[in-house]
Amino acid sequence: MIFDENKGMYFPTEDIVNQANVKEYEKLYKYSIEHREEFWAEQAEYLDWFKKWDKVLDDTDKPFYKWFQGGKINIVHNAIDRHLKTANRNKIAVIWEGENGDVRTFSYHALNREVSKFANVLKSMGVKKGDIVTIYMPQIPEQIFAMLACAKIGAVHSVVYGGFSNEALSERIRDAESRVVVTADGGFRRGKVTDLKGIVNEAVVLCPTVEVVITVKRTGHDVYMENDRDYWYHDLESLPIASPNCETEETDANDMLFLLYTSGSTGKPKGMMHSHGGYSVYTSTTHRMVFDIKPEDRFWCAADPGWITGHSYLLYAPLINGSTIFMYEGAPNHPYPNRWWRMIEKYGINILYTSPTAIRGLMRYGDSWVTRHDLSSLRLLGSVGEPINPEAWRWYYKVVGGEKCPIMDTWWQTETGGFMITPLPIMPLKPGSASKPFFGNEISVVNEQHEEVKAGEEGALVIKNVWPGLASGIYKDPEKFVETYWKKYEKEGWYHPGDSARIDEDGYIWVIGRSDDVIKVSGYRLGTAEIESALVSHPLVVEAGVIPLPHNLKGNAIHAFVILKTGTSPSRELETELKEHVVKMMGPIAKPEEIIFSESLPKTRSGKIMRRVLKARALGQDEGDISTLEE
Ligand code: PRX
Repeated sequence: MIFDENKGMYFPTEDIVNQANVKEYEKLYKYSIEHREEFWAEQAEYLDWFKKWDKVLDDTDKPFYKWFQGGKINIVHNAIDRHLKTANRNKIAVIWEGENGDVRTFSYHALNREVSKFANVLKSMGVKKGDIVTIYMPQIPEQIFAMLACAKIGAVHSVVYGGFSNEALSERIRDAESRVVVTADGGFRRGKVTDLKGIVNEAVVLCPTVEVVITVKRTGHDVYMENDRDYWYHDLESLPIASPNCETEETDANDMLFLLYTSGSTGKPKGMMHSHGGYSVYTSTTHRMVFDIKPEDRFWCAADPGWITGHSYLLYAPLINGSTIFMYEGAPNHPYPNRWWRMIEKYGINILYTSPTAIRGLMRYGDSWVTRHDLSSLRLLGSVGEPINPEAWRWYYKVVGGEKCPIMDTWWQTETGGFMITPLPIMPLKPGSASKPFFGNEISVVNEQHEEVKAGEEGALVIKNVWPGLASGIYKDPEKFVETYWKKYEKEGWYHPGDSARIDEDGYIWVIGRSDDVIKVSGYRLGTAEIESALVSHPLVVEAGVIPLPHNLKGNAIHAFVILKTGTSPSRELETELKEHVVKMMGPIAKPEEIIFSESLPKTRSGKIMRRVLKARALGQDEGDISTLEE
């Protein structure tokens, strides 16, 4: 790339532009806005449909939009089956490396056999079209086999991140009313065994709907198996019912493909629903265009499949596009901080897609861990999950990418299914800006009066149109979907993402962060209300207020203000106990950085905790308008 010092921008070289799948932005963008439905119908033609749609966009039941209405499709037919009839059949679909050094690879042919076997096992346990299966697994190939197996037979997967606690897991199983849970005995993380089956055992006690737990053996440590409920996958897989042939179900374009729980402003996580048709089209189009996918690429999305990034860009989009995906089980710095760079060299990875937190975490070990490896195979880099600070951007660009790889800083959400704001490899880049709206999207920054703000001014990010990757709703809670995303701009019909941003004179979008009660810690999305209710569930805590404060490595860290029961004295021991209590209730990602014992919390007269005031006080900033403060 070429750096223009005056503009502070990085320009793509001719090579990058010449080989790009999309060579021009403005014209195609204009077309995609003026002919949105035609644009998406053209992209949908890249996929195999059992039956073409009758209507590209059905908006009769706003905001429950239906894309490709009347169409019949299955995402697995596109991610696997259709490749079996081409040269892709013999191509490597998945390369996996375990933290302990195990390596497994699967061609598309082999992937199909594994997924079909898993699908037949699920069927033999009575799983039918529309049933929701909860998957709680480490990052091993069986995790994605299980997801694909559900989709293949028209069942719905609800993947719960393997770092969540038994409480968080059981809450999600109960909401989904899963009858079948798929797990593993454990996984390897920083050289230690994680006891996933033990956590499942505790979680399902509180889930009356669970009848079957299927466990994949990964670590081989001792686990408790309950008679008539728990089955080892390797036992089931060796039975004649687990044939490697299984018909792929013809699902409607708007049939649910998966449910993924995410945090919002209330204490209860929301089950976002995505469906087979629009999601397949949106994720595969964004992946093909933004990551400039070539048939020979080896693509590594370092996210866990337990999050939306893993669903969309580790699993579905790359397989639909016939790529070779790489998947790694463990910690980036195990046994040494060169683990990732060693694997990029070893497997010849072409595209790396990860988070600013991971980049900052590896940056602190110094350049030599990276530069001792030959990373010349890398062609493109990606970032997601939180704003990337220019310092981390430059390190990623210079030390990892060797000053030749454009960085795709992609802004999107669990709700959006795929990239909404992103550069293309042909675009000049500004470190820290996610650049421009992806095709089909009209994105603005507005003030409280819903008017567009001037260039450079901060405001609320809004999306003025709908797109095929948009979630179809919140499971069992349509009102919440309307209230959270559509109420604020009801008159205009805009989508409200909950982020603040500014747009500069060149039309580049700079996302600042969440403007609601959601916080991003190491790129993980958590609700302040969830952490507060975890704290209040401790017998000695009366009230809690949680805020994010800037953190060098994590982006944000959790600071909790806590009021104790009368007669209880604050102590270091109690601080540790409360931190551990949150870990027990939610998982290690929600562990507060600091507990501050307080006598009172700033509240409005209606009793709402003013987190804004807490934050301003902690940062020594102006508290703003506090006229509504009760005390
Ligand atoms: O605040 C934005 C931030 O992550 C939020 C969405 O979180 P989640 O649903 O967990 O999905 C994360 C992965 C897509 C957004 O509301 N965010 C995501 N990507 C970026 C970002 N903030 C700034 N820049 C990004 N590239």
